[in-house]
Amino acid sequence: MTTTDILHSLDYGVAPESSQAARDWIAAHTSDDSGGADSGAAHFGLFIGGAWRGGTAHFASENPATGETLGYVAQGTAADVDDAVAAARKAFPSWSATPGHVRARYLYAIARGIQKHSRLFAVLETLDNGKTIRETRDLDIPLVARHFTHHAGWAQLVETEMAGHAPLGVVGQIIPWNFPLLMLAWKVAPALAMGNTVVMKPAEFTSLTAIRFAELCQSVGLPDGVFNLVTGDGETGAAIVGHAGIDKIAFTGSTDVGRLIRQQTAGTGKALSLELGGKSPFVIFDDADLDSAVEGVVDAIWFNQGQVCCAGSRLLIQEGIYERAIAKLRARMERLRLGDPLDKGVDVGAIVAPVQRDRIALLVAQGVAEGATLYQPSWASRIVGGAVSSGDGASGVDASGDGAVGDGQAALTAPWPGLDSRGCFYPPTLLTNVAPASTVAQVEIFGPVAAAMSFRTPAEAIALANNTRYGLAASVWSEDVNLALDVAGQIKAGTVWINCTNVFDAASGFGGVRESGYGREGGKEGLYEYVRPLHAEAAAPEVKAPASKSSGNASKRASADAVGEGFGGIDRTAKLYIGGKQARPDGAYALAVTAPDGRVVGEVGEGNRKDLRNAVEAARKAADGWAATTGHARAQILYYVAENLAARGSEFAARITAQTGASAEAAQSEVDGAIADLFTAAAWADKYDGAIHGVPQRTITLAMNEPVGVVALLCPDDAPLRALCRMAGHALAMGNTLVVVPSPVAPLSATDLYQVLDTSDVPAGTINIVTGDRDVLAKTLAEHEDVDAVWYAGPAAGGAAVERASTSNMKRTWTLPARGALPASAELLREATTVKNIWVPYGA
Ligand code: NAI
Repeated sequence: MTTTDILHSLDYGVAPESSQAARDWIAAHTSDDSGGADSGAAHFGLFIGGAWRGGTAHFASENPATGETLGYVAQGTAADVDDAVAAARKAFPSWSATPGHVRARYLYAIARGIQKHSRLFAVLETLDNGKTIRETRDLDIPLVARHFTHHAGWAQLVETEMAGHAPLGVVGQIIPWNFPLLMLAWKVAPALAMGNTVVMKPAEFTSLTAIRFAELCQSVGLPDGVFNLVTGDGETGAAIVGHAGIDKIAFTGSTDVGRLIRQQTAGTGKALSLELGGKSPFVIFDDADLDSAVEGVVDAIWFNQGQVCCAGSRLLIQEGIYERAIAKLRARMERLRLGDPLDKGVDVGAIVAPVQRDRIALLVAQGVAEGATLYQPSWASRIVGGAVSSGDGASGVDASGDGAVGDGQAALTAPWPGLDSRGCFYPPTLLTNVAPASTVAQVEIFGPVAAAMSFRTPAEAIALANNTRYGLAASVWSEDVNLALDVAGQIKAGTVWINCTNVFDAASGFGGVRESGYGREGGKEGLYEYVRPLHAEAAAPEVKAPASKSSGNASKRASADAVGEGFGGIDRTAKLYIGGKQARPDGAYALAVTAPDGRVVGEVGEGNRKDLRNAVEAARKAADGWAATTGHARAQILYYVAENLAARGSEFAARITAQTGASAEAAQSEVDGAIADLFTAAAWADKYDGAIHGVPQRTITLAMNEPVGVVALLCPDDAPLRALCRMAGHALAMGNTLVVVPSPVAPLSATDLYQVLDTSDVPAGTINIVTGDRDVLAKTLAEHEDVDAVWYAGPAAGGAAVERASTSNMKRTWTLPARGALPASAELLREATTVKNIWVPYGA
């Protein structure tokens, strides 16, 4: 094709990128051949303890754009994983003790190494994954370098900025194939910066850039064992997850595997962060800049062939502009260029593997069968069986039945030179007439398929946006900043992009809520995934309350209580506290509360599954209102609870003594501590600020601390009143609503609170209290789909059961021992919140 031809047709010129350097690098590994399959081809080894070893078995790594075998990657065995963990363990003491500045130098050297070899990394990634060179060159690899530079900074600052925290130890990291090197960087950079050592497993489809990265670690002199690479498939991953020598698992991938990993690690004490799937809404309001929004859709769902966990796969378009938006989208799709990913003019590359393409095709067929209208560009007809035919078979795609066909551009784009008929491709696809409950609106397709729906009002847009199991990201398009920010605040997601999409940076945390997982990668919020707090506070710092005029009144109440205790006076029936009312337990059973000497000091209701259902329902009903209550108002209510508790201080102290045998002085000190903790929680209610991240884009990136939602709190045995007030106080201060199961040791300290709560303006349903068997109730709460987090303090077996049961909706869990120091404010605040990053671009 000549320039004249191009000018004549206005078609794209071909701009192929040479793959020679990458192929030379691959060929240089031919000597790694350990006699496995296809000897003479490149065979890659494992990087363990600073040395390379050949694998015992290998599998082929293919270029999805051509079907060619690039080389053979080692299948790491359980024995390899053992060795890698041992090497990481051996390296840990000295790496964790290495000054932050020295670790910063290594990370900086890695960043520079990535930059110096950026084209090799980019081409290798394109060959191995099928994503376009435009993306690997302009997005993936620069972001990898940015991540290491940014985290070199955190390593430099670790002693001051992360004071009071220690690294976790050996971290197992398992990553997917959609952003191979970028996902590696997101995990390795913070782990190393904080002083951990790493055993990394890349996805089996895409191991090559990780292997090249291990060579880079070697060349910058990273100490042996700090970074270990074990390639392999899910079995290798499972060996890492199940290894007893690993302190934390960080995983990105499918929700199904995330669930398995949660179950496998339950009760092992391993820390866990999960970045799972998504079905992110892309909301276009009728005042949006429609041309920009259409370009946004291109970046949201056709970028990386839609193989993006946060892809904007559900298009929600306001009714007034729906038809126009769909027409513009179809026209834009027609001009997308699918082809050889190494061609710099290509927009849409290959799908990573036939198994993924078949899954996409199956889901699309299901969508059509359920009534959706399918639109693909006219040139899509030349994709035959997933590969591209270079013949002129352009008849347009009209599987829709609505007469929507391509606009005839096919003739201009043919014949797509350089395409390999063995490649694995799927065309950009738009589904309309999609019902919100249909498969294609609910299931993550992980391909270039957008499902469009319309809405009328902002409220309807928010309801549709939140009508998903997931909560990874969202994109909101409107020229009205008030509307956009209002909607962004109400969408349940870890990231919301306003008038932009798929924008990432190392300074901003990324991660999900709901079944999209938990934990953040990037930003300061991401560092906490790789450290543990050292500052477990003493259980009850001595608090000497000033003498107050309430003490006379309180002692009177205490004596009245003493009558009740011996059943000599009027019987006091402790019920449950649900929706702001005292409720009889559904099962009509009561449990005796005994003192350490065996004396019965009272009875509480035995709550069951139905009581919990009611309590969760009440908490859910109160959740939005309480979350929207200002920090100032929440603080006032918590201060008021403290005030009313103080007024009855000696009664509560006597009750603690009766139940636990604590001395009068110790019991009073606990009450005073509980009051002080309520004050601390109230103090934080309007002070736990978010941040504005310093990202390089022209964007204000607001990191907002949001409540987690409905939190189930199963209280510890030590300091029962104080623990409840401290933990519930912080959860409430951050805007969560609660279902509390009091400690079985001293539940009367919780039931006595009902009247305090009633007289302190606490809105109905904000805090619900259900007494009963802690472990039985814990399991039910952990299984409950409408509980967002479980904080469980109790025996290890109970904690394990909670973690296992939490997979129903992938809720966050926090397990603590039944006895011991109470968690500090900083930890409670982090557990009580989730960070939402809202990106707001600016510029005239
Ligand atoms: P996957 O979740 O199976 O693979 C991700 C990683 O986990 C790979 O390194 C794999 O080897 C490893 N793995 C697999 N089974 C494991 C196990 N039992 N224990 C430990 N590690 C294990 O994802 P897959 O099969 O490649 O893709 C299937 C679907 O998952 C996609 O269609 C997409 O819907 C979703 N997905 C989501 C991603 C995301 O970023 N959210 C990334 C990749 C896939």
